[in-house]
Amino acid sequence: MKLLGTMQNMDGVLEIGGVSVINLKREFGTPLYIYDLEFMEKKIKDIKKTFKSEKFKTTIVYASKAYLSKGMAQIINKEGLHIDAVSGGELYTILSSGFNSKNIHMHGNNKSYEELYTCVQNEIGSIILDNRFEAEVVAQICKSLNKKMNVMLRLNIGIDAHTHEYIKTSKHSSKFGESIFDKEIQDIVKNIVEKEELNFLGFHCHIGSQIFDEMAFCEGVSIMVQFTKEISDKLNIVIPEINLGGGFGVRYTEEDTDADLKKIMKKIIASLEENLEKEKLEIQNVTIEPGRSIVAQAGSTLYTVGGQKKTYGGEKYVFIDGGMTDNIRPALYSAKYESVVANKLNESKKELVTIAGKCCESGDIISKNTKLGKCTEGDLVLVSCTGAYGHSMSSNYNKALKPAVVFVKEGEAFLISKRESYEDLIKNDCVLPEKIYNID
Ligand code: LLP
Repeated sequence: MKLLGTMQNMDGVLEIGGVSVINLKREFGTPLYIYDLEFMEKKIKDIKKTFKSEKFKTTIVYASKAYLSKGMAQIINKEGLHIDAVSGGELYTILSSGFNSKNIHMHGNNKSYEELYTCVQNEIGSIILDNRFEAEVVAQICKSLNKKMNVMLRLNIGIDAHTHEYIKTSKHSSKFGESIFDKEIQDIVKNIVEKEELNFLGFHCHIGSQIFDEMAFCEGVSIMVQFTKEISDKLNIVIPEINLGGGFGVRYTEEDTDADLKKIMKKIIASLEENLEKEKLEIQNVTIEPGRSIVAQAGSTLYTVGGQKKTYGGEKYVFIDGGMTDNIRPALYSAKYESVVANKLNESKKELVTIAGKCCESGDIISKNTKLGKCTEGDLVLVSCTGAYGHSMSSNYNKALKPAVVFVKEGEAFLISKRESYEDLIKNDCVLPEKIYNID
């Protein structure tokens, strides 16, 4: 496993942020999500430093779906980044953290009336409209509250970008946004612009996630700039902003390219400047929405080894005390991870094993056929790069307790979320009335 961020081998025991995993296990138990705060702050600073231009302002919006807690929102607020939400729950968490509401942006392809109402009431930074119908609802809410709302329109620009490839104009059936190829698109925009309750800022797109191909982003930039120019000319309006979404790829294992985030940022800026010049378009602000690239590598999951088993079929299993409930990505996307025996880093004997969880599900696997140091019951296995879409997609399947989350930095560990308790699992369960539940 590649040691990431502040990870260090201290006489065979892994330290993150200057805290040994043995101490983390003792204080907080396992499974445990550990975030390397210094590393996360470095990622943020790298993006802030490189996503910059002299031709326009830039805004970095953290895509909170990658990982969100009140503590995380506080870090994002402290670093001066904006944040997005795609649900009432994310919005509630962010607002509860005391986040500057002007720096919150609301996404979602099916926002409820209540969610939109909360946005307008709290005067958040902007709502990214998914479609023509949503514009009507937001305008109506604004009217009733006597407020004006900044809006953008999400576009489907016809790029389907996958992990290592992108196929132009093939993704016309996505559920997100309005298509730039829709023959009514100009009227849809005109309708939004004409609503006096709405302040139209411009267009948004997001071409996919875990993208390594810089050319896919540049292709996106070119289409967005051309489209913005075309609409502003046809409607004779000034469109001040462009939002390019997130999706910047991250190295999980040696199979991935070691994506250079700073290089990608610089490339996007260069492509923007070139395209704006070519189209003779002036833009005041360009936004990006990184999620994974800020938190993925900063987060790891610590587990305790339980039993081990060699099956009749020859598979060697190492069982850990978590699994698909705290990391669904291997089961859902065949995602791959690297891992180590974190309290025996100097163990030279390695075995090819499958790390499996404790759920009643054959697909409950964290790493298939991975090289792991020899370990026994009670040892600690650390899986790296679980910081994005691990905690945020966790579940209570088999009534598993969601693990605690800690941030570590300079020798200290800060509890960000407590481990769930059994009481938490049943706190919303109601008791049936006697007329239904009668065991006599
Ligand atoms: N902006 C929008 C509108 C998005 O839909 C997303 C991610 C992002 C920004 C952030 O993308 P990122 O920089 O994190 O790639 N659950 C999947 C990822 C789904 C991404 C959904 N949208 C996974 O575990 O790989």
